[in-house]
Amino acid sequence: MVLLDQAKRTLENNLIQKTVTPPLILGIETSCDDTAAAVVVGSALQSSVVSSQHIHAEYGGVVPELASRDHQRLIVPVVQQALADANLHPSDLDAVAVTYGPGLAGALLVGLSFAKAYAFGLDIPLVGVNHLEGHIYSVFIEENPPAFPFLCLVVSGGHTQLVLVEEGFRHQTMGTTRDDAAGEAFDKVGKLLGLGYPGGPAIDRLAKDGDPTFRDFPRTRLGYDFSFSGIKTSVLYYLNAIPDDERAAFLETHLADVCASFQQAIVDVLISAMREALRETGVRHLAIVGGVSANSALRAAAQQLATDENIHLHIPSPRFSVDNAAMIAVTAHHKFVAGHTSPLTLTVQPSLSL
Ligand code: KG4
Ligand code: ZN
Repeated sequence: MVLLDQAKRTLENNLIQKTVTPPLILGIETSCDDTAAAVVVGSALQSSVVSSQHIHAEYGGVVPELASRDHQRLIVPVVQQALADANLHPSDLDAVAVTYGPGLAGALLVGLSFAKAYAFGLDIPLVGVNHLEGHIYSVFIEENPPAFPFLCLVVSGGHTQLVLVEEGFRHQTMGTTRDDAAGEAFDKVGKLLGLGYPGGPAIDRLAKDGDPTFRDFPRTRLGYDFSFSGIKTSVLYYLNAIPDDERAAFLETHLADVCASFQQAIVDVLISAMREALRETGVRHLAIVGGVSANSALRAAAQQLATDENIHLHIPSPRFSVDNAAMIAVTAHHKFVAGHTSPLTLTVQPSLSL
């Protein structure tokens, strides 16, 4: 009887320990051209590894087939590195989280298949994460996360969305792009200017020495919706209007000015939409996430907006703005503790929305 009581107490202690120990989650991200893995204990980040595929630069954009093949090559070493950096063994894990959409189908399949096999092998739950939710909750990786409800601009290579985020993973999309995403516009204009892929970081760098008032490119907004294909066409027409034999010399002198003017137009559109949405909703916290939130002019303008409107601004550090797995692991933490796990029959959803 005493032995039975002891055994019962040990079992209860183990259960209490299990429930009070923060869950240890491995996050995996392979939706586009970054193979990434990260580990969180509770919501605290332990490691984050990103292997960016450089093979696409020579093609001027991501080649889906090549992306899948590279994920296949990199997924095991990237996961091993993330576990090693966190000083952990696979058997320590409580769950495996993975992006299941939106993104490139073949690229998503590599990460999801790997995660399912890992979860199955370790007999632990799988947590499917929407890549867009991952970006939104990237502001919870670091200190001083926003309070709910907050306004969030998701601005990346694939998406431009203004979202009102409420507690419990409830999202209200206020506006979205009708055509190109802001990052896509950066990449297409970068290509036009011969800056390679991705164009965003190169334009950001060059624009620092340019005059943003050099050329007035169009600023299009349709309510809270965006349209960025017109500005790309406008840059194209502007360059085409320069005689062929003068274009090289023109760009030699004015490349930085064109970059700064184009970038300013994009920043103005994004800032004006956020200003209006802040005033309309009255929310006091603003988050800007996704690859384009790494842009230095957007960051500076957002800082000014926060001062003007007297609100709290949250932008992840640049390594968590672009695609990474830390945002997937942190999002999964919040889902997991709220009781959300996914069946092993989960399939990729390339067009998944919020
Ligand atoms: O979030 P992300 O890594 O991938 C997607 O989910 O799309 O975003 C990539 C996009 C690319 O279009 C890239 O050009 C853009 O983010 N980007 C930037 C900067 N850094 C990355 N755009 C402007 N300025 C930057 N500094
Ligand atoms: Zn992304």
